[in-house]
Amino acid sequence: MAIRNLRLEGDEILKKKSREVEIIDEKIQILIDDMIETMHKYNGVGLAAVQVGILKKVIVIDLYDDKGPIVMINPVIQKTKGEQEVEEGCLSFPNQFAKVVRPEEIVAEYTNREGKRMRVKAKKLLAQAISHEVDHLNGEVFMDKIIPGTLEYVEPEEK
Ligand code: NI
Repeated sequence: MAIRNLRLEGDEILKKKSREVEIIDEKIQILIDDMIETMHKYNGVGLAAVQVGILKKVIVIDLYDDKGPIVMINPVIQKTKGEQEVEEGCLSFPNQFAKVVRPEEIVAEYTNREGKRMRVKAKKLLAQAISHEVDHLNGEVFMDKIIPGTLEYVEPEEK
């Protein structure tokens, strides 16, 4: 496994749409492992492949609960319900946080890393995370949809 370089604010790749994964081969499995490691290294709750420069529909999410990292290949949000106003950040926009409106609940379909098509009903933080990462696959970033006046810059802690 390896830490991959993060693509940051201003990188044009973040505006591009990702392509469907057709075959879950060794290369995709390595990408997934590297994405999980990279997400954990930077304490993120989610990461899309485009953020490490790969335009493929792969996202990883970890809410640091008992479920462990969730890997979603070719995710599709099928239904949304309600709204939640939430604080959000993104590994491509280090130290910046703002409020956005996300669906309160979503139903999504995706393929897991074993190749099985799955369906998930998600609420609250998981709904927010899936919505944020699926936006990345469509070339959209949270900064495009923040509630005006809510952007904050938080100084990183000295390590
Ligand atoms: Ni993000």
